[in-house]
Amino acid sequence: MKTGKLTVGDKEIELSVKVGTENEIGLELGKLRKETGVITLDPGFVNTGSTESAITFLNGEEGVLRYRGYPIEELAANCDFVEVCYLLIYGDLPTETELENFRDSIRAHTMLHEDIRSFYNGFPRDAHPMAILSSVVCALSTFYQDALDVDDEDQVNTCVHRLIAKLPTIAAYSYKKSVGQPLIYPRNDLNYCENFLQMMFAVPTEPYEMDPDFVQALNLLLIVHADHEQNCSTSTVRMVGSANANLFASISAGIAALWGPLHGGANEACVAMLERIIEDDCNVKKYVDMAKDKSDSFRLMGFGHRVYKNYDPRALIIKKACDKLLSKMDRDDPLFDIAQSLEEVALNDPYFVERGLYPNVDFYSGVIYRAIGIPVQMFTVLFAIGRLPGWVAHWTEMHKSPSARICRPRQIYTGPGAREFVSIAHR
Ligand code: ACO
Repeated sequence: MKTGKLTVGDKEIELSVKVGTENEIGLELGKLRKETGVITLDPGFVNTGSTESAITFLNGEEGVLRYRGYPIEELAANCDFVEVCYLLIYGDLPTETELENFRDSIRAHTMLHEDIRSFYNGFPRDAHPMAILSSVVCALSTFYQDALDVDDEDQVNTCVHRLIAKLPTIAAYSYKKSVGQPLIYPRNDLNYCENFLQMMFAVPTEPYEMDPDFVQALNLLLIVHADHEQNCSTSTVRMVGSANANLFASISAGIAALWGPLHGGANEACVAMLERIIEDDCNVKKYVDMAKDKSDSFRLMGFGHRVYKNYDPRALIIKKACDKLLSKMDRDDPLFDIAQSLEEVALNDPYFVERGLYPNVDFYSGVIYRAIGIPVQMFTVLFAIGRLPGWVAHWTEMHKSPSARICRPRQIYTGPGAREFVSIAHR
């Protein structure tokens, strides 16, 4: 198909068609309003492509996810997270030298400016770490004013390396603040995941012993979260970035979007739901019935996805890892048992089958996070650390695109027509 035709009233217009690598077809509607006076109306952007992108391909019907052409299953089995960051941001898998240079640069930026530590005294002890993460990331733009020019490739690159290096430090500090422990400095002799775990769990009074299985599980979780094309937070990063806001500010906005319980916050909500079911005599059926009841706003958290109407491939990888980790630890987590029974009941229920509702990436990730000792309020923070390379890759792709314009959707106004002003004495 080279073009498409659209009839609006008595007008027919020819629209050009964009065909993607995997034969996805997009009708280019840019001239629709100019030629017909109408706009498209698509709440939630269910049917709207906001951009062309060469970063991630996903096919929700067939459960396929690839970063830069590589299947997620192969990347999860063979790479570490830093290598996947390089792939997403620069477009190809790195050579050994490229990877070593990238790792060195990331290591060089892990510390936070000492003055940032004082910010943590200002937040209430029970502040949600996502709020801290978003605020401190935005505040980085006040400390690194030497690299805020969005049109300078070197400055942007420095900014990217700083963000990848510092996000785990910012995140771990927010946790230490919440438990009243001293903030632990990064250690550059450790790898990315090891360093994060030591900043989270080490204390100055005794040596911290790292479990390599935890490091491996964390690495896997970060990889499967690394990108997911035009989701809510990534679209937010692109939207904010389209106004030429600097990278720190754009990522800070993405973190805020990810915090929402319908997006990244779902893993936290999912664990809360599983705990509620356990407290309620493990009555799985009751909760499945509640989720089906249209007069009840309750939804099965960790179920359903805007794009995947078949199994989420990330959920498969995580479920396997979860199983392996728990059996290696010889640990029986009732949460994992309940999650499995819930999945079984839901997948055999016509309500869920007919709507293509399957467990998503968040359904099992919380169970692994719990197993490695990550507290519930930090789950979405871990998601943000994982998603960072995706956000960055999209932000830079957008800036390099010759067709990039400020994002500015239109609307159909449904409020009152023009009214005569009534002074306050007469209302
Ligand atoms: N439990 C029960 N019913 C559901 C669920 C659910 N979790 N998800 C969707 N449905 C139903 C809806 O009620 C709707 O039913 P209807 O056709 O009878 O009206 C139908 O399935 C389609 O649902 P929509 O809300 O239209 O689907 P949408 O694509 O807008 O939403 C979303 C996707 C937000 C993920 C939704 O499935 C949901 O709320 N899930 C729970 C929260 C969650 O797990 N979010 C994580 C998403 S993954 C991520 O961000 C990493």
